[in-house]
Amino acid sequence: MLTRRFGPTDFTTTAIGLGGMPLSIKGRPDETAGIEVIHAALDAGMRLIDTADVYCLDHEDIGHNEALIANAVADWQVANPSAEILIATKGGLERPDGSWTRNAHPDHLKRACEASLRALGVDQIAVYQLHAPQEPLVPFEDTIGALADLQREGKVKHIGLSNVEVDHIRRARAMVEIVSVQNRCHPLDTAVFKNGVFDECAREGIAFMPYSPVGGWKDRKAIQCHSALGRVADQLDASCEEIAIGWLMHLGENVFPIPGASKIRSAQSSARAGSLDLSAHMEALSAALLPKRR
Ligand SMILES: NC(=O)c1ccc[n+]([C@@H]2O[C@H](COP(=O)([O-])OP(=O)(O)OC[C@H]3O[C@@H](n4cnc5c(N)ncnc54)[C@H](OP(=O)(O)O)[C@@H]3O)[C@@H](O)[C@H]2O)c1
Repeated sequence: MLTRRFGPTDFTTTAIGLGGMPLSIKGRPDETAGIEVIHAALDAGMRLIDTADVYCLDHEDIGHNEALIANAVADWQVANPSAEILIATKGGLERPDGSWTRNAHPDHLKRACEASLRALGVDQIAVYQLHAPQEPLVPFEDTIGALADLQREGKVKHIGLSNVEVDHIRRARAMVEIVSVQNRCHPLDTAVFKNGVFDECAREGIAFMPYSPVGGWKDRKAIQCHSALGRVADQLDASCEEIAIGWLMHLGENVFPIPGASKIRSAQSSARAGSLDLSAHMEALSAALLPKRR
């Protein structure tokens, strides 16, 4: 599988990462099956995993995904001690009674980070991402200030952002180093190409992690029968999902799609996308999928 440097960090990891969310939210598989999915992703070569404290059922279940991943990775590493796995987690949301709400207040982030350290069983989080800003209720600079404190205290090695605009990236970078940005991005949601986030990350060498790369819950079916993806999929004996992930991966050296999986076959298919050579198809795919420049 293709590997690349993760933004300005010293980590080299796989261009495709496992998105952990479907293993811990409503409809999740049981714990044994969840661990098998993570093992399948690792066996297939993935070395990057995206998680969050709030990938769980509700406020009483916070940390479910982080703990599941930590257990699965520790178990897998018994037989693979030299493999380096980059786990990126997030803080800044809450799950009161199962709903999804923002809380980017410094006090919350500091408490959430402590809980993530415990759930992951580590002394330092490799990449800690702000899940989402909460302006105007919480000044963005206060939120980033909390992340800077966590980094100074050694609890966080690198800081990332999620669900942000270019202005957030620039304001955050005036205060701390930002290594990654994670926004929704797939062939039917191309906002990041219009609002400048994709170009900003490429220009500044920031890792960009397209989330919901095969459409998430909303656009998954439309991706499966997308004509431009389907034409290439037929030629390469691949699936539309694999072409969607591969297309994103080929858009730049700094791009790390993180497809989710609750089934072994989804994780294995996404890993296959990491070995696709789409160079002969990129022009046609991008002409069909990227928003037209005026
Ligand atoms: N930062 C944020 O605000 C945010 C928001 C949403 C997601 N995320 C992150 O991004 C990750 C991915 O997003 P997502 O899980 O919402 O959507 P997604 O990656 O588009 O995946 C949606 C579903 O598609 C299926 N799938 C994935 N890859 C496939 C493949 N190669 N072939 C066939 N089916 C495939 C999986 O189904 P099965 O479950 O049936 O295996 C998966 O649950 C999440 O897991 C999470 O880590 C971040």
